[in-house]
Amino acid sequence: MRLPKRAEAVLSYVPPSVAKGVESALEKIPGVGAMVRAEKAKVAESLKAQVRKHRPAELATHVLPKKGFEKTELLAVLEKLSKGEEKTWKDGRVSGGVYHGDAEHLRFLDRVYSLYSQANPLHADVWPSVVRFEAEIVSMTAKLLGAPEMPLDSEHAVCGTLSSGGTESIMLAIKAYRDHARRYRRIEKGNIVLPSSAHPAFDKAAHTLDLEARRVPVAKDGRADVVKMKRALDKRTLVMIGSAPGFPHGLIDPIEELSELARSRKAGFHTDCCLGGFVLPFARELGYPVPRFDFALPGVTSISADTHKFGYAAKGTSVVLYRGHALRKAQYFATPDWPGGLYVTPGFAGSRPGALVASAWATMMATGHDGYLQSTKAVLEAAAKLRDGIRQIPELEVIGDPLWVIAFRSDKLDVYRVLDEMAKKGWSLNGLQKPAAVHVCVTLRHTQPGVVDALLTDLKSAVEAVRGTPPAKDGMAPVYGLASSLPFKGLVSDLLSAYVDALYDA
Ligand SMILES: Cc1ncc(COP(=O)(O)O)c(C=O)c1O
Repeated sequence: MRLPKRAEAVLSYVPPSVAKGVESALEKIPGVGAMVRAEKAKVAESLKAQVRKHRPAELATHVLPKKGFEKTELLAVLEKLSKGEEKTWKDGRVSGGVYHGDAEHLRFLDRVYSLYSQANPLHADVWPSVVRFEAEIVSMTAKLLGAPEMPLDSEHAVCGTLSSGGTESIMLAIKAYRDHARRYRRIEKGNIVLPSSAHPAFDKAAHTLDLEARRVPVAKDGRADVVKMKRALDKRTLVMIGSAPGFPHGLIDPIEELSELARSRKAGFHTDCCLGGFVLPFARELGYPVPRFDFALPGVTSISADTHKFGYAAKGTSVVLYRGHALRKAQYFATPDWPGGLYVTPGFAGSRPGALVASAWATMMATGHDGYLQSTKAVLEAAAKLRDGIRQIPELEVIGDPLWVIAFRSDKLDVYRVLDEMAKKGWSLNGLQKPAAVHVCVTLRHTQPGVVDALLTDLKSAVEAVRGTPPAKDGMAPVYGLASSLPFKGLVSDLLSAYVDALYDA
């Protein structure tokens, strides 16, 4: 089932305010409203059927069993289910998704998890080792991302916290800027300025925190447009955003110029390194052309970097870093008068999984600088081979000059049909839009012998197949065609919600 990635891509370009306004205007036209509702219901039913088709049947239920199952029986079923799903990602047929996945590494993660499955850093007195791990993950990540070696005063020292993933790190950073600005800049309702390529987590943050998100179209080269970003800045801008690299095309925004721009206006600057935090420092060391993007730039005031992506930890951790303790403090939530006791949490969650903290710490300690350097080398070499191979296919055009997230488009054929052909061959690649494109995020899974060659061979034959046959009615090509031609983006939003409804339908 490949829809979630598509849904994410579509969502990133739907401004909710616009979608809502148009949607309600449309529904008020006599006759049209009923027709739209009927069409939506039809699509919702078909989404439900699609989701059901891909659902395994073993032990499916919608009520709590009266008597519990034997644990051995449950384990046998879970083993069968997870093994059945393992093949696609294990063989490197998925874009991104699983970043390490070697059997020996997974056994190590599982062992660490089992040692700390009950741990919760909310109870700092009970699990002091987990609390120490958190502090050390933050410190190690900060040093990787340009934090000065020498201890500095609290205004300049780089500090941070752990979170559950890239989205939470981003939402926490935006909350920190909002609350900091309320206290120190007297801005009650501010805005954030970000390129159209930045992750939808920023829109989610702005929506949730009641801020305005100013999306600025990227320049022709696919990177943030410095001139247009400057125009979007004003006195109420809390923070400007750039990605290193961005999810869609794997391109690094001109962070140096953007962060200086923000600094000159006294706004913050957030570098989204969710994807690149554990790759770019090593890529630079290997001699790849990596522009400055981190705390070495004086204008960069916060960074998100995901341990659960190229940090190779288990899913469920990320790091958010700040220049200065005041910003980090604005991320915290404290309640001094609750009858349940004095209460303070660093992030959105209350209780947190100590086992994931321990596994992130153990992964960093086991991998070490040399391990990350070696992995980065392998990923970048596999990605260069893929990028150069795609450039040899006359119908396809690689977007920009990416390092390891390789996006391609086509003027000559429908690239979504290529995506569908690749899906038929067992590849789970990412569909992008505006412009229509596909990407592959290269991970250690793709460095296994033969994977890049197989991908290129299948891509060539997928292009051949699309060139020689008329369009099919099913697959993602018609869905993307519809999404890009629909004048009413609110409809797309509704359909995406219907998709999530279908997922939660037991
Ligand atoms: C650049 C970037 N930022 C943020 C995120 C969000 O991360 P998560 O899915 O862990 O919430 C992603 C996810 O792919 C990303 O690529």
